[in-house]
Amino acid sequence: MDEYGTGLNGGNPSSYVLSNTPPSKADCSNHKIGVAMLFPDYRPRRLRQNDAFRRMIRETKLSVDDFILPLFAINGKGVKNPIDSMPGHYQLSIDNLVKTSKKAYDLGIPAIMLFGLPETKDPLATSAYDKDGIVQKATRTLKDKIPDLAVITDVCLCQYTDHGHCGVVDGHIIDNDASLDLLARTALSHARAGADMVAPSDMMDGRVAEIRNILDENDLSNVPILSYAAKYCSAFYGPFRDAAHSAPKFGDRRTYQMDPANAIEAIREVTMDVEEGADIIMVKPALPYLDIISRVREEIDLPIAAYNVSGEYAMIKAAEKMGWVDGKKVMMETLTAIKRAGADMILTYFALEAAEALRA
Ligand code: PBG
Repeated sequence: MDEYGTGLNGGNPSSYVLSNTPPSKADCSNHKIGVAMLFPDYRPRRLRQNDAFRRMIRETKLSVDDFILPLFAINGKGVKNPIDSMPGHYQLSIDNLVKTSKKAYDLGIPAIMLFGLPETKDPLATSAYDKDGIVQKATRTLKDKIPDLAVITDVCLCQYTDHGHCGVVDGHIIDNDASLDLLARTALSHARAGADMVAPSDMMDGRVAEIRNILDENDLSNVPILSYAAKYCSAFYGPFRDAAHSAPKFGDRRTYQMDPANAIEAIREVTMDVEEGADIIMVKPALPYLDIISRVREEIDLPIAAYNVSGEYAMIKAAEKMGWVDGKKVMMETLTAIKRAGADMILTYFALEAAEALRA
């Protein structure tokens, strides 16, 4: 016997074999084998006693393949503006964007999610679907310099509208149907610039179908849609809105993003996007919505992405800076939890750090 109370062969062999007498109902009600999983016959610690065993029975393993790195592109040259609330992240001009993307690629990260900060904003978000807009230019350069790194573009209007809402505004109402055409044009211009995948994050009803149609009509039926399907109206987006200058100038996003209190509605939202042609569906944020990830995983047979958003990142970074948590361990535990809940891929500002940690 070792300090754990059981050596490698220290268990009672009878606890490993099926008993000849049928177990009582109570014995087998919560497990699949016919052995009473009760102490002292069953000792869960037996398989926790050393690293080899723990690795053998580990159910969830993070891999660099799981990560998508969000990046912010801005006009100019040599620009690297630190984002205070997201330590380690910057608004990057295209030259620097390529450098960071190369780093991600070299670490084995398969994809980045690109956000743009345009030079001009107006009520119709014209800089969002300008063929020489910031995302379009950045995409062309990235596909030229690092062709094998997948570029996913965020399709939304909020960074490009002067009022900061994700759709067209009529008075103080966000006009759903009037926004669809602009979102579709934005997605088309991203795909024409070479985007490998487009990711609508606006939460207007019907936008996935509109985007699928316009891509198909323009010989871009190969471009997948990663839909921000269950996107909640969350205070966890705070740091992102500083980073992307996309805070709404009036009101909030409650009339289009989901109420954090709703879970069944998430299934309706996701199902709708699947029907409209989404290839991958996203739940966002991730950590406060693990139950939603897990429910969607049970209901839907498509790949699921989860967005470990800016506020989730900022909280860990802040607590680490205060010396209150071990930042690296909390990062890995968080990412593992998101994957365990059912996410196939994780958009995370930790992508570079986590990829480095997995290498070490
Ligand atoms: C744009 C968009 C937002 C995020 C991703 N795309 C902000 C918002 O909806 O207000 C948030 C990402 C993050 O917080 O990391 N619609």
